[in-house]
Parts: sequence; C-alpha cells; structure tokens
Amino acid sequence: MKIAAIVGSTRKESFNLKLAHFMKERYADQFELDILEIGHLPFYNQDEEMTPTAEVVEFKKNVADADAVLWVTPEYNGTITSAMKNAIDWLSRVDQVMIGKPSWIVGASMGALGTVKAQSHLRDILFAPGLSSPVLPGNEVLIGSVHEKVDENGYLADEGTIAFLDATVENVRPWLEKQAAVRN
Ligand code: FNR
Repeated sequence: MKIAAIVGSTRKESFNLKLAHFMKERYADQFELDILEIGHLPFYNQDEEMTPTAEVVEFKKNVADADAVLWVTPEYNGTITSAMKNAIDWLSRVDQVMIGKPSWIVGASMGALGTVKAQSHLRDILFAPGLSSPVLPGNEVLIGSVHEKVDENGYLADEGTIAFLDATVENVRPWLEKQAAVRN
C-alpha cells in the first residue's frame, strides 16, 4: 500500500516532519510512505484552479496515485496550519482527488493536548463534500509535549509513545487497505 504523507509544518526541524520520517522507516515493511512537499504550493486562488502551476499538478498527481493520505499535523493557534489548509483547498477542487480516499491523522505539538483541536478540525474538513475522505473513528495519535519525547535529533524516542503508535498502526493499516480496495 502506498500512502502519501502531508506534513502541516514547513520548517526544516519540524517535529511533525521528523515524525513522518520516523513512521516511514519504522513501518517500511507495512506500507510505502511518500512524504510530499506543500511549502512551495501557491496560495489557492479560484481564478487559477483550471490552470494550476506545475507544482500543484504534481502535488495532486502524487495524492491521486496514493491509496491513502497520512496527515501529520502540528497545531497553530488551535487549528491546522495555513500551509495544510492551502494544500487541502487545492485537493478539494476540479478533479477532487481525495473523494473516497481514506485518511489517517497523527500530530505532535509542544502543548500538553498534542494537536487535539487541530485534529478535530481536520476531521471535520475531510468530511467536506469536495474531500469526502473517510477517517477511522478513534485511534487518534496525539503526541503532546513532543519536545520531551524525542532524542537529540528530534526523532521520537519515548517508549510508551512508540508502543502506542505501533498499536495504532495495527488497527489503522488494515482499515486503510480495505477502504482503498473498495474505492479501487
Ligand atoms: C504554536 N504552537 C502551538 N502548540 C499547541 O499545542 N497548540 C497551539 O495552538 C499552538 N499554537 C502555535 C502557533 C504558532 C504560530 C506557532 C509557531 C506555534 C507550538 C507548536 O506546537 C510548536 O511550535 C511545534 O513545534 C510546531 O510543530 P512543528 O513545526 O515542530 O512540526
């Protein structure tokens, strides 16, 4: 199974970007994770949606080619980042490549609640008609105080968190596979 990862943070040392890389390596025998760039996408503009830039075309193609999308979200001011929302708005229009494609949400933040508000908003957004992306109920991966759960290079090192992530992958992966098979 091929999963496209969309990371909401565009900063180089992002904990969420490192979480995506951690998952790519740790679960390499279970799925192929393709971590996509979103920082270079132009601001969504309805005037341009029929004549998108090459970056937008490639981004949408990469999502279209994936069986599922993993959203790796930080939390900015109680919601998802503008970069992630921008990527979503592009995906929701014209060829609407997300429709019926299953989503999986994880997130890390330095706050105690670990992106709970951002993830709740993201679930709602994914149910918008232009996206219509199913998300498995429960199985939230909310990594709070992430700076205390990583090694000196910023990669997840907290045993309890890793064990929880492993257990979640065991639940979510077969569900994503089933959803993708139904869709194809
Ligand atoms: C934050 N941060 C933050 N954390 C949180 O738990 N809830 C929040 O609402 C916010 N709001 C917020 C706004 C802005 C503009 C910034 C820059 C930061 C802190 C945030 O969790 C922290 O910066 C993470 O490191 C961001 O994720 P990445 O970039 O490390 O992936």
